[in-house]
Amino acid sequence: MKVLFVCLGNICRSPSAEGVLNLLAAQKNMDVMADSKGTAAYHIGKAPDPRSQACALKRDIDLCKLKAQQVVVNDFYKYDFVFAMDSDNLAHLHALRPRDATASLALFLKDYGALGEVDVPDPYYDGDAAFDRVLDLLFDACDRFLEVECR
Ligand code: 4NP
Repeated sequence: MKVLFVCLGNICRSPSAEGVLNLLAAQKNMDVMADSKGTAAYHIGKAPDPRSQACALKRDIDLCKLKAQQVVVNDFYKYDFVFAMDSDNLAHLHALRPRDATASLALFLKDYGALGEVDVPDPYYDGDAAFDRVLDLLFDACDRFLEVECR
């Protein structure tokens, strides 16, 4: 099963989601491959934000080798699930998605989150607590995703 997480810059939320889902899938011995991209081109080629990397490392997730990429139309044929991190990015992805896309498209927390938020809040202009909150939301929803879709 191939999963693509999409945020705006692909340097904070979606690379974190990629790392969390890959970690949990490996721990549960599940055949899931997570990847991530952004709707914007600003950060193409850059490693994840140092604050995201530091927060992820505290939870045994190493994001240092990832490089930001921008989502393309072909991604809607390459992955089984495309998940937006927030409603703005979901709208962008709906506009990009071809009619005969094979990937499903959804708002990740709306379908799998249970902590009361549907958008993963953008932590870019916030402090460390916002980056930790992103990981809390992602661990919760990724766990449920694996339970529901990969049993
Ligand atoms: P992300 O966070 O979408 O979670 O990667 C952001 C990264 C960069 C910017 C905004 C959000 N930016 O404005 O450059």
